[in-house]
Amino acid sequence: IDDVKGGPDEGLDHVGKTIVVMGWVRTLRVQSSVTFIEVNDGSCLSNMQCVMDLEAEGYDQVETGLLTTGASIWVQGTVVKSQGSKQKVELKVIKIVAVGKSDPSYPIQKKRVSREFLRTKAHLRPRTNTFGAVARVRNALAYATHKFFQENGFVWVSSPIITASDCEGAGEQFCVTTLIPGSQEAANSPVDGIPKTKDGLIDWSQDFFGKPAFLTVSGQLNAETYATALSDVYTFGPTFRAENSNTSRHLAEFWMIEPELAFADLNDDMACATAYLQYVVRHVLENCKEDMEFFNTWIEKGIIDRLSDVAEKDFKFEFPLEWGCDLQSEHERYITEEVFGGCPVIIRDYPKDIKAFYMRQNDDGKTVAAMDLLVPRVGELIGGSQREERLEYLEDRLDELKLNKQSFWWYLDLRRYGSVPHAGFGLGFERLVQFATGIENIRDAIPFPRVPGSAEF
Ligand code: 4AD
Ligand code: MG
Repeated sequence: IDDVKGGPDEGLDHVGKTIVVMGWVRTLRVQSSVTFIEVNDGSCLSNMQCVMDLEAEGYDQVETGLLTTGASIWVQGTVVKSQGSKQKVELKVIKIVAVGKSDPSYPIQKKRVSREFLRTKAHLRPRTNTFGAVARVRNALAYATHKFFQENGFVWVSSPIITASDCEGAGEQFCVTTLIPGSQEAANSPVDGIPKTKDGLIDWSQDFFGKPAFLTVSGQLNAETYATALSDVYTFGPTFRAENSNTSRHLAEFWMIEPELAFADLNDDMACATAYLQYVVRHVLENCKEDMEFFNTWIEKGIIDRLSDVAEKDFKFEFPLEWGCDLQSEHERYITEEVFGGCPVIIRDYPKDIKAFYMRQNDDGKTVAAMDLLVPRVGELIGGSQREERLEYLEDRLDELKLNKQSFWWYLDLRRYGSVPHAGFGLGFERLVQFATGIENIRDAIPFPRVPGSAEF
């Protein structure tokens, strides 16, 4: 449908051609001499209006009830100028085939359904306008992400999903184990049979990896190893956090983009984050016009203007904060929405006690070279820092935080053999999707959300 209607003439340049459309029926209006079928194939927001008279081959399927909302169809017809004002062209049906009929219980009927309801129908919600548009914009953002980094000489590195180290040190990891056998039955009634040590603790040496292993919370530490060999690199993959927060901006499984820049400091990091964000926003504004108009009308009024500002303007400010308090979501929203009038803001040089072990200590001895980029509505979109590249400082910090130095031996090696100043950041991809579409809840920014108490679909 996009091939025909997506052009500058909205399909007029295709008038007279015979085409085939395959998709799903959105609505069906049966009149005495003519039937109107709106079909969507997911290629764009627009439906193709199919106009079918009694002579069309396959018309009988209307009468036998095979053609209903939700059914999948194959339809061949001629592109003609539309009589209606809603579209420039429509399809005069030559032949129609109901490929898969739809049971009358189909839950996504024309009336507007709430996004809460659609979360319980995650397998069918991509057939709605909103979720189709979100999926296409998400795809465009992923494409633009790779394009930006590739054009700027970054190498994409796959970081592991299973790891023994806790990058953020926040203890929010999911454990991966074979000690509890994988069958659903066993998972429901676990406990015994699990090997224990003399002290009654779980004997991890008997486990698959010989020690506790977890789903990664961040690919950063692995990205650093490649940045100190290949120079600029980035990761783009799934990450996991078992934080028990039921909010509109937290998922247990989310995708993260983590660039790591070699021979770089915090200023280079901030410049990269700004250029990246402006690039992907511009890409979406230029390439997803129809979907963005939809969000502008139905999801967040004025989002196109707001994103256009982001793509153009510089967003660095100096802003003094009270010493020692971490920012809660309310503070972050207040700063971007009230203080800076809806503009993204970078906050830098956080107190070291509220930040992770790997961040580079500033000369004042109490702050680290960290930066967070906040955006309106979403809050923290990016968290990054210059990394501590000095072996002694890093070892001291690990001791101070009582972290197990042994387990970071390979990470410390990077500081032993040709250490360089380097910096990077992590961007939560679903929060970027929220920011770019205006979708209020992060659960609607990923196809299949994983949140506390819910891992269906
Ligand atoms: O600020 P965070 O925890 O930083 C890191 O993980 C660093 N290792 C990144 C780096 O420097 N390479 O997470 C980075 C971003 C956040 O700013 C946020 O956008 C997103 O990841 N994020 C989440 N998104 C959805 N659900 C969650 N539970 C998230 N936790 C973090
Ligand atoms: Mg953070």
